[in-house]
Amino acid sequence: MHNNVLILDFGSQYTQLIARRVRELNIYSDIKPYNNPPEDLSIYKAIILSGSPHSVRGDNVPHPDLSEIKGKKPLLAICYGAQYLAHFNGGNVAPSATREYGRANLSYTKENEDFLDGIDDGSQVWMSHSDTIKKLPDGAVRLASTHDVENAAFRIEGEKTFGIQFHPEVYHTKDGKKILENFLVNIAGLQQDWTPDAFVETTIEELKEKIGDDKVILGLSGGVDSSVAAMLLHKAIGSHLHCIFVNNGLLRKNEFDSVLDQYKDMGLNVKGVDASARFLDALKGESDPETKRKIIGRVFIEVFDDEAHQVENAKWLAQGTIYPDRIESVSASGGPSAVIKSHHNVGGLPDYMKLKVVEPLQLLFKDEVRRVGKNLNMDPAILGRHPFPGPGLGIRILGDITAEKVSILQEVDAIFIDGLKKWGLYDKVWQAGAMLLPVNSVGVMGDERTYEKCVALRAVESTDGMTADWVNLPYEFLQKTSNDIINKVKGVNRVVYDISSKPPATIEWE
Ligand code: XMP
Repeated sequence: MHNNVLILDFGSQYTQLIARRVRELNIYSDIKPYNNPPEDLSIYKAIILSGSPHSVRGDNVPHPDLSEIKGKKPLLAICYGAQYLAHFNGGNVAPSATREYGRANLSYTKENEDFLDGIDDGSQVWMSHSDTIKKLPDGAVRLASTHDVENAAFRIEGEKTFGIQFHPEVYHTKDGKKILENFLVNIAGLQQDWTPDAFVETTIEELKEKIGDDKVILGLSGGVDSSVAAMLLHKAIGSHLHCIFVNNGLLRKNEFDSVLDQYKDMGLNVKGVDASARFLDALKGESDPETKRKIIGRVFIEVFDDEAHQVENAKWLAQGTIYPDRIESVSASGGPSAVIKSHHNVGGLPDYMKLKVVEPLQLLFKDEVRRVGKNLNMDPAILGRHPFPGPGLGIRILGDITAEKVSILQEVDAIFIDGLKKWGLYDKVWQAGAMLLPVNSVGVMGDERTYEKCVALRAVESTDGMTADWVNLPYEFLQKTSNDIINKVKGVNRVVYDISSKPPATIEWE
């Protein structure tokens, strides 16, 4: 196994960022909740304590026993972690006179420290805390301060134990990655061997060994995750991988055929199943968003199940689950919580299929999936594709769904997305799409009065879909796109652009 860093999560909004920064250094890292830590710590070569929304002085807040860790393994404690380290070990934590949030500049109080090697005096760091460490823990030496925070960085004499009040994982901390590198590579002595090359090589070997001559079934969605998972399995077991790509009738214009061709060009053993009519039939007259989702999910499983049964003696179901889907989260109240989200695109298969599950991407973040795909020489058009919801256009047609509405929305969406590509805007946008509104409005076309549909265009910037900002697309682009849609798509006479951020407005309108 690779060098492994354990990140103990105290519920900070930045915990996943810590893991990603560590992995950018080509070092593998695992996130575990502080209240459900791994039993065997021997595989971990270094430990990081995260921040937290709590105060160490509160009741019912994270106060784990650090005696198996502190002084025994290289330890970096960040923000709340550092405060807790002080609290746990003879120091004192008190409310700050002012809430410290935002940029600050480090100044050294101790020179020639490995921990701050290569960091300029005055380097910008990011603070976000309302408590402060008044008295350092026993045996600690202060390494750096900022204007408002005396104990911004410290280490404990005779140990590889460090505490920092600022957040090295946040981009605004200019040298944050260097500080993590100093700790993990120079001080803890970890190898930087978590590379896409190494991942591809070891994963293919592991898959070969695990699966042997068995047959595997995988549902392709057209998205990045299932495509990269398929490619890894294909390299490992070739035609024993049976891929199924279902057309639910709610895909983008021409997407079923073009994606199916792409999959075939990749050499995949793939069967395209056009079940559009079955989905549309099941959705007839239904306008409640959650009921529509449930129907689409149920019919998907029925269709997939029918197809999977035709693969004789299949033993495995492969899924494109990625690491963020599997992280156990610490609940906001600080209490124990161990929720692992199921992969919402597939939703699992009925128990009676008795298939074992294989998830080749379960250790990767999305950006790592893309890097692995690149390493496998996959088409950049597949790797750069925007996220697209499992229920597809079904949740972008507000209200009930008909074949005519799907066809109108497919035309509108294609003009918008092709336009983004032509104008070089597609890769600058995280996700984009069009919504068909249940609204008719009056227009004039030539001498005629019209009373037709209105569509809304939405384009957002985001990193994970949890929060999102609308994109400031150029007016010239919006003008051209609106003209094209109204001139070319029969039944639409009005186009609006959605300028709402999430929260509160979700990315999809349903
Ligand atoms: P919202 O609309 O919640 O969307 O802001 C966040 C991200 O999730 C996608 N999404 C879905 N994906 N099944 C999916 O597979 C769904 O039911 C679903 N609903 C929303 C959405 O496209 C965005 O990327």
